[in-house]
Amino acid sequence: NFDRTPLIAGNWKMNMDHVQGITLLQKLAWTLSDAKHDYSRVEAAVFPPFTDLRGVQTLVQGDELDIAYGGQDLSQFDSGAYTGDISGQFLNKLGCKYVLVGHSERRTIHAESDEVLNAKVKAAYRHNVIPVLCVGEGLEIRQAGTHVQHTLDQLRADVEGLTAEQAAELVVAYEPVWAIGTGEVAGPEDAQEMCAAIRAELTELFDADVAAKVRLLYGGSVKASNAAAILKERDVDGVLVGGASLDPAEFANIVRFES
Ligand code: G3P
Repeated sequence: NFDRTPLIAGNWKMNMDHVQGITLLQKLAWTLSDAKHDYSRVEAAVFPPFTDLRGVQTLVQGDELDIAYGGQDLSQFDSGAYTGDISGQFLNKLGCKYVLVGHSERRTIHAESDEVLNAKVKAAYRHNVIPVLCVGEGLEIRQAGTHVQHTLDQLRADVEGLTAEQAAELVVAYEPVWAIGTGEVAGPEDAQEMCAAIRAELTELFDADVAAKVRLLYGGSVKASNAAAILKERDVDGVLVGGASLDPAEFANIVRFES
C-alpha cells in the first residue's frame, strides 16, 4: 500500500551505552547519506536505551538527521512516586516520536499484563508519542496452532478504549517470540498471515479507514538478506530489527531494502 510509509526500526535492547550509541548512530547516518538514501520513501527509526536518548537527540537535531527515535518502554503514569520508571512526558521532551510498548521481553521478564500495556498505550498518546505495540505468540502456542487467536487477543486488550483517531496513528509490531534472537525467522507468508489478521481485526474494532492507515511491522531475526522478501508482503509495512540493528552497515542495508 503506497499510503503507508515503510518503517524500518532498530531495537537496540540493553546494548550500547551512551558513548557507543552515538558512534553507532553516526555510522548509520554516514552509511545512509553515502548511499543517498531517499527518506521520503522509507522511515528509519532507532530505539536506544533511555540513557542514550539525550545524546541521540543532540546528534539527530544538530545534524538534522532524518532518523526518528524512541524509548523502549514508558510508565503508565505521568509523574510521581514510581521509582525507576520513565514518563511519556520525558520521552516527548527528548524528541521521541515513538515508544515501544509490550515487547515480549517486557511481557515475560517484567510480567507486564495486557491491562498495564493498555494503560501504557494510552499514556503514550497522552504525551504525543506514537506507541509501537508489540504482540506475538510463543513457541508452544505456535505449535498448538492458536497463534492468530492469541495475538489478536493481545491486540484487542492492548488497544481497548482508543479513539479511531488515535488508532489510525498506531504502529503494531508482530514479533513471534520463537523467532526473536534465535535465527529462526518466520516465513514471509507467516508474517503476512498475521499482519492480514491484525488488519482485519482493526477493521472490526475501528473501521476500514483506520485499518488501512495502521502500519504493521514484522520482527524476529530480520537481516538484510531476508528483509526484502518479508517487506514485499502486502500487509507488512516495516520491520522491527533487534540484533542486526547493532551493525550500522547491516541495518542501513535493511533500510535500503528497495534498492
Ligand atoms: O524488537 C526486535 C526483536 O525482538 C527481534 O530481535 O534480534 O531477533 O532481530 P532479533
